[in-house]
Amino acid sequence: MYVCLCVGATNHTVCDAVSRGASTCKEVAALCGAGGDCGRCRRTLRAIISAARVNQAELEPASSSLGSAQKSA
Ligand code: FES
Repeated sequence: MYVCLCVGATNHTVCDAVSRGASTCKEVAALCGAGGDCGRCRRTLRAIISAARVNQAELEPASSSLGSAQKSA
């Protein structure tokens, strides 16, 4: 789905920028251009960034417990 019509960036493009470390709209714009022009997509960008944080928070406890399980094994 297109998120930013100014640069033709999709949600996959934005998710990729977030997975590469972007945690603000400015950082997403620096990596893929989305949100760097008219700014109408920034609310959606913030939602994608927030969803990525939630997903990462849900994954971290499992991966950290797996890490400790591997250390004790
Ligand atoms: S729609 Fe994203 S900067 Fe214009």
